Amino acid sequence: MAKSRDGFIGREDRQVILSNAASWRLVHRLRSRVDAILVGTRTALIDEPRLTNRLFWGKNPLRIIPDYHCRLHPGLAIFAGPAQTWIIRGRNELIEPDWSENVTVVTLEKEGGIQAILTKLAAAGKTSLLVEGGATMVNTFLQEDLWDEAIISTTDQYLGTGIPAPTGFIDPEDHFILHTDEFHWFRHPRYKT
Ligand SMILES: NC(=O)c1ccc[n+]([C@@H]2O[C@H](COP(=O)([O-])OP(=O)(O)OC[C@H]3O[C@@H](n4cnc5c(N)ncnc54)[C@H](OP(=O)(O)O)[C@@H]3O)[C@@H](O)[C@H]2O)c1
Repeated sequence: MAKSRDGFIGREDRQVILSNAASWRLVHRLRSRVDAILVGTRTALIDEPRLTNRLFWGKNPLRIIPDYHCRLHPGLAIFAGPAQTWIIRGRNELIEPDWSENVTVVTLEKEGGIQAILTKLAAAGKTSLLVEGGATMVNTFLQEDLWDEAIISTTDQYLGTGIPAPTGFIDPEDHFILHTDEFHWFRHPRYKT
């Protein structure tokens, strides 16, 4: 997660680029090392990320996007190849649009929440998951205490207003600076000795 120096992760209605090029490469390196990557529905719609690993060696993780209100459409960048994508939906009467062959619609009831998605991933052998926002999604992982590590960069930008960055990460294990971005790496307290 990247945040502005005054504590915002983005705007309500449009994408804001907060991180520098070196940090982007680091994010792609992280992507190359996980089995799957998850974003909230609003991030998929507003940012139109591709969520692929284009700036580092290695694989593309499986992309996971919940879409319980059927707002996603095949034209979004997140569905472009070559990475595989799961759309998570509840049961509905909708006639599915013509998704490309790298897209799988997975039916899970919304009441199952994040835990149901994690269980489904584990059953498919996907045991490492990178959550790339937005705030609502990250806060859900915090509230349900389902996170292991957090990597947060504070950039040199000021937004003045926007979506507040999730809080609650304390006592970082590591700290480093990449040009204009300052990184803190947190581990869940359950792992602290
Ligand atoms: N700076 C960064 O690192 C960074 C990274 C990513 C995104 N962003 C920014 O974050 C903003 C979007 O954040 P956001 O908080 O508005 O939305 P979000 O977290 O991207 O998406 C939230 C939506 O995801 C859906 N969802 C489905 N299952 C969920 C679950 N179990 N837990 C939580 N959400 C679930 C819900 O939609 P339904 O109500 O329709 O079910 C919810 O409203 C954008 O402006 C984007 O630019 C910043």
